[in-house]
Amino acid sequence: MNILNFGSLNIDLVYQVEHIVRPGETIASSAHQVFAGGKGANQSAALARAGATVFHAGQVGQDGQWLVDTLAGQGVDVQHIRVGDVPTGHALIQVDRHGQNSIVLFAGANAQIDRGAINAVLAHFDRGDMLLLQNEINDVSYLIAAAAARGLTVCLNPAPFGPQVRAYPLESVDWLIVNETEATGLAGAATLAALAALCPHAHIALTLGAAGVQYRSPTEQFHLPAPQVEAVDTTGAGDTFIGYFLHGLTAGLTARDAIARAVQAAALCVTRPGAMGSIPAANEID
Ligand code: RIB
Repeated sequence: MNILNFGSLNIDLVYQVEHIVRPGETIASSAHQVFAGGKGANQSAALARAGATVFHAGQVGQDGQWLVDTLAGQGVDVQHIRVGDVPTGHALIQVDRHGQNSIVLFAGANAQIDRGAINAVLAHFDRGDMLLLQNEINDVSYLIAAAAARGLTVCLNPAPFGPQVRAYPLESVDWLIVNETEATGLAGAATLAALAALCPHAHIALTLGAAGVQYRSPTEQFHLPAPQVEAVDTTGAGDTFIGYFLHGLTAGLTARDAIARAVQAAALCVTRPGAMGSIPAANEID
C-alpha cells in the first residue's frame, strides 16, 4: 500500500520561554531555533522513519526548498511538492520550561493548493492506497471527497481544529485520529462514543497525551497507557504517534500493537527539542 500525505510544510520559528506569553505582556526568550516542521511534513517524516513508503504532496515558496530537501533526506518521496512564488508557511512556537508549547500559524503557500494540483496528484494513486490529511492546507473537504471517490482509504487528523472541520464529509473518513481538543471541537466531547456518532464506520484513535490512547473500531474498543517521561518539548509528539501508528497498521500489526509502538515513539519524541528532528528512528523503538 502506498501512503500519500497531502499536507503542510512549515518553517518552525521556535522560542524557549519561561512561560507562554500572556495577553499584553512582552517577554524575552532564552533561545531561538529554526526547524523544519508542519504537521503534514512531520507526519511524513515519522512515517518514513518508521519504515513506510510515503509520498508527500503540498506547496512551499522559493524560501522553502530546504524543507523539501529535508523531507527527501528522510526518505520521503517529494515529487508531488510544488515550489511556487507565495512564501512558505511558518509557525511561531513558544516552548516553556515544562516542555509545553503554544503555536501561531501563518499558512502561506499551504493555503495555495488548487484543484488542478490535487487532481493531478490523486491520479497517481488508486484503490488500496491511503490518503493522510491534517487541517493545515486549504481544500481538505475536496481532498476527502475526491480520494474517497477514487477508492482510497482516507485517514484524517483534523489538526489544528477549526469549525470548518464539522462540514467535512466525515462519513468518507476511514481512520480518524484526534486529540482531546480536536475531539471536543468536532463532536462536543472528547469521547469515543461522541466521535463514533459522527464517523460510525471509522477506526478512531483518541490521543490523551500522558494518559495514553483510546481506540475504537466497529469491532473492538480499548485504552492503552503511555510511558511516563520527562517532557522537554511536546511539539511533534502527535505527528510522531500518527506516523508510527499508520506505518504499523500498513505493515500488518493489529491496532493494539501499532498503538503500543506509536506511544513509545511519541514518548521518546517529547524528550527531545523540536518537531521533525525529534522523531525517533525505528531502531530506537525496537
Ligand atoms: O505538530 C507540530 C507542528 O505544528 C509544528 O511543526 C508546526 O509547524 C505546526 O504545524
